[in-house]
Amino acid sequence: MNFPADFTSLLSRTGKLVALTGAGVSQESGLRTFRDAQAGLWQQYKPEDLASPEAFARDPQLVWDWYAWRREAVKGVRPNPGHYALVELEAKIPAFTLITQNVDGLHRFAGTRNLLELHGNLQRVRCSDCGTFAETWENDSGSVPRCMHCNGLLRPDVVWFGESLPRDPLEKAVEAIRTCQVFLSIGTSGLVQPAASLAHAAQSNGAVVVEINAEATPLTPKTDFFFQGKSGELLPKLIQAVWGN
Ligand code: APR
Repeated sequence: MNFPADFTSLLSRTGKLVALTGAGVSQESGLRTFRDAQAGLWQQYKPEDLASPEAFARDPQLVWDWYAWRREAVKGVRPNPGHYALVELEAKIPAFTLITQNVDGLHRFAGTRNLLELHGNLQRVRCSDCGTFAETWENDSGSVPRCMHCNGLLRPDVVWFGESLPRDPLEKAVEAIRTCQVFLSIGTSGLVQPAASLAHAAQSNGAVVVEINAEATPLTPKTDFFFQGKSGELLPKLIQAVWGN
C-alpha cells in the first residue's frame, strides 16, 4: 500500500486527530468481530439476544455466562501491530483522542492513554441496582455474583442494545470531534449509532475523514480517503510512510 503524498503530508501537519475503532482492529488479535458468527455453544444465540437488559432480566445467568466466556476468550489475547501503531500515532499527534466501540480492553493494554471506551469494558462489572463498579467479584459458585453494598445482581459494565452510552466518554467524544482536523475510522462497519454518526459530525465540522477497513462500509463513499486492508498491516505502514520509523 502506497499512501498518496497529499495524505501523508496532511497527517504530518495534523495537530488534532480523532480515531474511532471497532471490532476489526481486534480481529488480528484473534477476536471475532461483532458480526462474525458466534462460536460453539453460543452459535444458537444472536448477540442482540444476549447483550440487552431484557435478556439479563429474563435469564441473568445465561447473560453472565456469555460474558464470562467472552472474558475467557480475551484472557489469552494480546494487542496486535494495529493497536501498537495507534499508541505510536498518539505520540506523534499533539492532540490525539481514541474513541473505541470495543470492550476487549486491548487499546488500554497496548498503552493508549487518551482513550474513550464508548461501549464500556468487559473487565469491569457494575451493580444492576445501585450502579457500584467493581473490577473483582466473588462467584466461586459460578452463579451471578451480587453487589457487596446492596446485594443487587452484578452485570458487565458494557453498553447493551437499547441502552444509552455512558455520558462522560460520549461528551468527551463529541467535544473532540468538534475541533479535530482528521477523523480516522478504523475496523468498524459503521452500522451502530451514535459511533456511526461521529464521522459525519466530524466532517460537518470541517475534518478530513479517513477510513481504514477490510471492506467498504456505508461510510466509505463519504470519506476523503479510504484504504482497504487489515488495520494490523496498514497502520504500521501509515506510521512508516508519514514519520519514517
Ligand atoms: N482490519 C480492518 N478491518 C477489519 C478487519 C481487520 N483485520 N477485520 C474485520 N474488519 C472490518 C469488517 O470488514 C467490518 O466492517 O471491521 C468491521 C467490523 O464491524 P463489526 O463486526 O460490525 O464491528 P463494529 O463495527 O465494532 O460493531 C460496532 O456494534 O454490535 C455493536 O456494540 C457492538 O461495538 C459493537 C458495535
